[in-house]
Amino acid sequence: MSEQLEAVLAHLDATHDAQIERLCDLLRIASVSTDPAHKGDVRKAAECCCDYLNAGGFTATVRDTTGHPMVVGHVDGPADAPHILYYGHYDVQPPDPIDLWDTAPFEPTIVDGKNGPKIVARGAADDKGQLMMFVEALRAWNEVGGGIPVRATVLLEGEEESGSPSLDPFLEAHADELRPDICVVSDTGMWDPNTPAITTMLRGMVYLEVTLHGPSHDLHSGMCGGAVVNPINAICKILGDLHDENGRIAISGFYDGIIEPSEAQHSQWAELGFDEAAFLAEVGLPESTGEAGRSVLERIWCRPTLDINGIFGGYTGDGAKTVIPSHATAKFSCRLVPGQDPDAIEIMIRGHLEKHTPSGCRWTIESHGVNPAIQVPDESPWLEAAQTALEQVWNRRAILMGCGGSIPVVGSFQTILGADSLLIGFGLDDDRVHSPNEKFDVACYRGGARSHAAVVAALAAVTRD
Ligand code: BES
Ligand code: ZN
Repeated sequence: MSEQLEAVLAHLDATHDAQIERLCDLLRIASVSTDPAHKGDVRKAAECCCDYLNAGGFTATVRDTTGHPMVVGHVDGPADAPHILYYGHYDVQPPDPIDLWDTAPFEPTIVDGKNGPKIVARGAADDKGQLMMFVEALRAWNEVGGGIPVRATVLLEGEEESGSPSLDPFLEAHADELRPDICVVSDTGMWDPNTPAITTMLRGMVYLEVTLHGPSHDLHSGMCGGAVVNPINAICKILGDLHDENGRIAISGFYDGIIEPSEAQHSQWAELGFDEAAFLAEVGLPESTGEAGRSVLERIWCRPTLDINGIFGGYTGDGAKTVIPSHATAKFSCRLVPGQDPDAIEIMIRGHLEKHTPSGCRWTIESHGVNPAIQVPDESPWLEAAQTALEQVWNRRAILMGCGGSIPVVGSFQTILGADSLLIGFGLDDDRVHSPNEKFDVACYRGGARSHAAVVAALAAVTRD
């Protein structure tokens, strides 16, 4: 380990409390990107991130888009150093249902958890805690390491949790400014609290909101019930039939063209020793379910899904109201895997729904975005450098893993900037991302900041093609 890196790591330790304070200040801003009521908060969070970057040696600005702003910061670094593009998102998911939080979602609270202290707040792990790890690591290099050792660009997005509508146009318009040798994306997880991981596969997504319209207006269920179509009954049946008895999705063509992971990949996953009992304990269920003949890791990492995310219609208030609603709505999403074309899948789903339209009814269907599954190289000088650096910090080799979630920006970096990504994240499976009581372990934060400090030094030493 170089003297500079040692000094940077010591400085990160010495300034730990101030870093946690800065993270908590960012977590106090309710930057919920899907909710128009929080538009001002989203901008405030962008400004906060921008200030942090400027204080850390970057020249950073908040850039307007047609949606929420981007934050972009640059540092020149030494001549001939590689150009690294760091990505994170400062927006968060809505905190609902609010009454299930033990503490207020935007009042970060540090409490004892199973791995020591944890910061509880919306966005603690996804993704404010994660982006602050590289912001602080780079700041420490600036303060005591003799300067940030690479040419670095930081791009922080404020729309990731709402489908990134401004991202691709922004990347296209600023491709020359942003185009790096490699991207570092900090938005994924570790294998376990002691084992770092680099993610090489992400699932894609098709998200639809569908409404089934029936009677011209709400009806009295005593006067009409039994003689007319009830759109809620009908939509439940149609959606319920979307899985067959083997847990497979019953839409013709859905599995066509799927590219299975290699034998080598399957056996590498099998060797990871996935702890199914711990997984089930965390989700609070006695057994797993899903596609027959597949392990839990396969079901999460390399098999497609269809999940209803919300279903509503009719009377949902207090007490009883005997009504047959005129319409019913469901939001559902499919996670996609390599080989599935998201546009083709959307067309198949629309076709399936149309084909099963109950007599006298019609659908309105709205798409909330599609993105393909993504694979990044599992061998490269960048990846090797990152693995060496992670081993220095954790005394363990990082494992290469899949991820059931989606980070569409990684695909945009490939297609628009022509750059691959290193997905190096420090979340844990029990972080409750998108859920009440989201948390980020202080140990993960500390290890992550130290990791980013070591990784940037290792990337600086990679010779570019
Ligand atoms: N950080 C997550 C992705 C993730 C989820 C990584 C779980 C590791 C484990 C990301 O912010 C996210 O939630 N993405 C959305 C994308 C969607 C809105 C297009 C997702 O996966 O649902
Ligand atoms: Zn995220």
